[in-house]
Amino acid sequence: MLSEGQIQQFHHDGYLVLEDAIAKPAIENLKIAALQIVDNFDIDRHRTVFTTADRDSGRDDYFFDSAENIHCFLEEGALDQDGNLLKPARLAINKIGHAMHDLHPVFNEFCRQPIFGKALRDIGYTAPLLWQTMYIFKQPHIGGEVRWHQDGSYLISNPSTVTGIWIAIEDANRDNGCLWVQPGGHRSPLREIFQVDWAKREGKLTDLDSTPWPDHNQAVAVEVPAGSMVIFQDHMPHYSSQNRSDCSRHAFTLHVAEKRANWSDSNWLQRRTLGDFEL
Ligand code: FE2
Repeated sequence: MLSEGQIQQFHHDGYLVLEDAIAKPAIENLKIAALQIVDNFDIDRHRTVFTTADRDSGRDDYFFDSAENIHCFLEEGALDQDGNLLKPARLAINKIGHAMHDLHPVFNEFCRQPIFGKALRDIGYTAPLLWQTMYIFKQPHIGGEVRWHQDGSYLISNPSTVTGIWIAIEDANRDNGCLWVQPGGHRSPLREIFQVDWAKREGKLTDLDSTPWPDHNQAVAVEVPAGSMVIFQDHMPHYSSQNRSDCSRHAFTLHVAEKRANWSDSNWLQRRTLGDFEL
């Protein structure tokens, strides 16, 4: 699937961009399915906001339970100070997560496309297990910033074998909050770790290393058209800015780990009832 040059580039830079990776009908079907999930979501019953501005202190049971369910989370800017909705649901949801690949036929079929398993095997995987999927809306005007982080802080395997696949469902650019990465940053240490104390059902982000996050000169904007796919290593620092534009920036992500690696008991994401999903 990947050329020798692309494989080298992935290991050298820590990420790889593949334009025109996913066919337009597959992208459109996923978008329609995501909007249907939102239309069927009881927004008055669940008002859990997803923000990264609070060092992840807002993670609750609804979030933890999303590991094996399909749950919708709100943009912080979709609610006023009293918790009233300011937007219709389709323009209020931050993301859907995290087990659509198991539970929703359209998402399941999307994730079964051979490109994912082939690309992952090309970069060294033997048996890539799909742990989580997210459909991210990055809504117009209120799409929240996702601060600099490394995915390895949130999904811990030993040895470290997590890889993220980020797919542009809509065109992504600087204005609508595209992904930013630090080429080569995957060689930097893991700065933080998010662990859950299951007795208390509380998550906590702990600092591990004081290496600063990249400054603007070190960061590269990954501006890509819909259908593009970005693969990145779990120590790769990345972020996306707020979306102040009129255009949404939908994206879909998959996170995998090598089957033989140990999945930490303190990870927020635990699959207790669902079987292995190998790509
Ligand atoms: Fe991330």
